[in-house]
Amino acid sequence: MSGTNDGHGYDSLRLDRTGQAEAFDAIGDRYDEAFPHKEGQVGAGEWLIESLDPGARVLDLGAGTGVPTSRQLADADLDVVGVDLSARMVTLAREYVPAATFHQLDLADLRPGGARDLGRFDGVAAFFSLLMLPRAEIPLALRTIHHLLNPGGLLALSMVEAHVDDFEIPFLGHTIRVSGYLLEDLHKVLDTAGFEVVKENSYTYAPATADVPPEEQVFLCCRRRD
Ligand SMILES: C[S@@+](CC[C@H](N)C(=O)[O-])C[C@H]1O[C@@H](n2cnc3c(N)ncnc32)[C@H](O)[C@@H]1O
Repeated sequence: MSGTNDGHGYDSLRLDRTGQAEAFDAIGDRYDEAFPHKEGQVGAGEWLIESLDPGARVLDLGAGTGVPTSRQLADADLDVVGVDLSARMVTLAREYVPAATFHQLDLADLRPGGARDLGRFDGVAAFFSLLMLPRAEIPLALRTIHHLLNPGGLLALSMVEAHVDDFEIPFLGHTIRVSGYLLEDLHKVLDTAGFEVVKENSYTYAPATADVPPEEQVFLCCRRRD
């Protein structure tokens, strides 16, 4: 996919966000209670901190409550900007991480030529946010991240390993739609989007609630290749 085609990719896609932000508006803080063990996520955040210079500009894409990631990055003196589709999540994140700046935005608005331009970043964290997109959009979202990063910039990405597309699951009393890949396919999608995977970890994760099934979480530390 060439850079000039990114906007066209989005142009041919009908974005359907029905219910996605509403679910997270209603879930609020309960998200952090249901997913209390965040070793993999904190470890990937640590990789960003170790690899970037103090003051580097980092985007937390789909930041949720801002905890733990925006807070971890801001506490390490990185310059953190967070975006989330859910107004409630943005309100909580502003409260919990006053040192960062949060915008209520759809990540698709950040695409080349999209509705918002937040400038360029040295690093992006996208933890469990791209999985809320239909599969057809995930490569476009990765190209958007590529476009948002300075050359050589870093991406810490997490997904749930599953061969599903826009698949409805029960989630903390709501229904959300999620997508995923088998690990080998995710590697191919990242490679095509222009990312080199420099480190990865997988965890079998049992959320602290019967309402969310156990899942295989993958954390990929990537570098913008070209
Ligand atoms: C599963 S939560 C993960 C939150 C946080 N990254 C974490 O790992 O703690 C996914 C977040 O992505 C947000 N989200 C979903 N679709 C989005 C979109 N199109 N643009 C921006 N944020 C989105 C949701 O509102 C939610 O807060």
